[in-house]
Amino acid sequence: MSASAPAAEILGDRSVGAQLRFRGLGRTFGTRIVLRDIDLDVEPGELVAILGASGSGKSTLLRIAGGLDAASAGTVTLDGEPVTGIDPRIAIGFQEPRLLPWRSVADNIALGVPAGLPRAERTARISELLHLIGLTDFASHRPREISGGMAQRTSLARALARRPEVLLLDEPFGALDALTRLRMQDLLLSVLAEAPTTTLLVTHDVDEALQLADRIIVLGADAGATGARIQQLVIVPGERPRDRGSAELAELRAGLLGALGIDRHAH
Ligand SMILES: Nc1ncnc2c1ncn2[C@@H]1O[C@H](COP(=O)(O)OP(=O)(O)O)[C@@H](O)[C@H]1O
Ligand SMILES: [Mg+2]
Repeated sequence: MSASAPAAEILGDRSVGAQLRFRGLGRTFGTRIVLRDIDLDVEPGELVAILGASGSGKSTLLRIAGGLDAASAGTVTLDGEPVTGIDPRIAIGFQEPRLLPWRSVADNIALGVPAGLPRAERTARISELLHLIGLTDFASHRPREISGGMAQRTSLARALARRPEVLLLDEPFGALDALTRLRMQDLLLSVLAEAPTTTLLVTHDVDEALQLADRIIVLGADAGATGARIQQLVIVPGERPRDRGSAELAELRAGLLGALGIDRHAH
């Protein structure tokens, strides 16, 4: 990280974000039960990773948290207030950076800055975010002129530009090559270390979850049942960045792969 100013200063002086609480959450599409009985508290400043097989409802859960979809049962609250639709306190990032191709990197980040901010503050915030993600020299480039990792960094900066209380990320690094993904994980860790934000991260990568999360939940259906619930909730020990090769993490990894139905001894 090459930021000269602390990110906490750049990203606002709010404490550590809001508490995101799910209670008895369910989602049904027609007759199909996708999620049921989800109870979860994501504490202020905490990062919870969501693992689960494809189709287990991870994105649905995130979309409901972000007000992009409505629950069929139960509630989602932010510091006790129901989330009923798009909420300015919540920012969402997706696997695809979803940048506007005709706009520069700086102008794409600008899209995340709340309207009504005085011009000088707006400009300052954008240049600070560019610095934070290491793209100052690429500010005027168009999305097609930068790499996938840079585009995803731009997308993250756009999400942070409004100084969200909650950051929802749906497989944000899933489309990146392995090395870029590791770099992005480090970048996310340093951004969150300096500007703690309550974060819910959907990933299909067990190691990514183990590297980034305070806690990990595994979504899945009970045998013979429909509708995914929280099958496992794992507290990940150790300060970050964590030693990827530690025996403790290896044991957790084996347990999580097992919960996902992957037998690591099978060939
Ligand atoms: N708008 C929708 N209408 C009908 N079914 C949906 C809709 N959104 C998601 N689903 C279904 O819900 C299930 C879970 O989807 P999703 O949350 O995207 O899973 P994941 O992100 O874990 O792969 C899938 O079977 C999907 O087809
Ligand atoms: Mg998904």
